[in-house]
Amino acid sequence: MIEFENVSYGYEDNKKVLESITFKIEDGDFVGIIGHTGSGKSTLIQMMNGLLKPDSGTIRFRGENIFGNGYNLRELKFRVGVVFQYPDYQLFETTVIKDVMYGPMNMGMTQNEAMDAAKQALSLVGISEDKFNKSPFELSGGEKKKVSIAGILAMNPEVLVLDEPVAGLEPEGRRNLLKLLEKIRNENHITIVMVSHSMENVADYCNHVLVMNEGKLELNGTPEEVFRQADKLEKMGLSSTVAYYIMRELEKRGIVHDDRSITMKEAYGCLEKLL
Ligand SMILES: Nc1ncnc2c1ncn2[C@@H]1O[C@H](COP(=O)(O)OP(=O)(O)OP(=O)(O)O)[C@@H](O)[C@H]1O
Ligand SMILES: [Mg+2]
Repeated sequence: MIEFENVSYGYEDNKKVLESITFKIEDGDFVGIIGHTGSGKSTLIQMMNGLLKPDSGTIRFRGENIFGNGYNLRELKFRVGVVFQYPDYQLFETTVIKDVMYGPMNMGMTQNEAMDAAKQALSLVGISEDKFNKSPFELSGGEKKKVSIAGILAMNPEVLVLDEPVAGLEPEGRRNLLKLLEKIRNENHITIVMVSHSMENVADYCNHVLVMNEGKLELNGTPEEVFRQADKLEKMGLSSTVAYYIMRELEKRGIVHDDRSITMKEAYGCLEKLL
């Protein structure tokens, strides 16, 4: 679905921010991108819909070079929806409903179609009707985040890219939002790419993990492949999952053997059997 080949990029101050990044994302993947602050995660995802253009290398969407001659980059922005890290940069309209309708209207929907799409997206993310005519800036941090996600969902994208969607939400809000993403992926067949600082969230929800370190793609694999390389992750200032460390400790003490758990669910399963 999305393919990066030797993609490099630097902002105007010339510092290399991405260095020769190569990976593929398959249709239906739930990809987690992790990495230390400043490692290039936000820069990387802004290339997925052509918002930023690489200095060198190629980005393909469904096999086509998105910076190739005649490629419809405007349409790509509707097909690959990017939700920014900070909702304040994304929201701008006077009311919630107008904000969410903006994308659909831009795509060419009529006022009524856009209104329907917006209402549906807002209800999906759990924003109630009494908020529709409020200014998005009157909302709480979590609600702003949901409205910014609704604004992208209303365009019915093929890929939904989210930059730290659960940052700043309380634990229940986090869980609800992650469950919602899982549901959208399964029911609407949308590919999801999520930048996250939570190893747990990535291990629990994603099937594909990319690990960025100082502008390089250091690890690329399944959660099991990535989170079993705790030493490498620690060298990058990251860590494996809590479940991984608990199970290694139990292994050291001879209590469990040949265990491959990286999530709490898997660890519980293993321990339940032992008990
Ligand atoms: N608009 C910009 N102009 C110049 N440099 C930038 C700009 N945006 C980011 N950078 C620099 O590029 C590098 C990568 O930044 P980026 O925001 O992609 O990292 P990140 O992994 O998303 O970090 P975080 O976890 O803090 O969100 C950093 O050194 C950052 O200072
Ligand atoms: Mg970032």
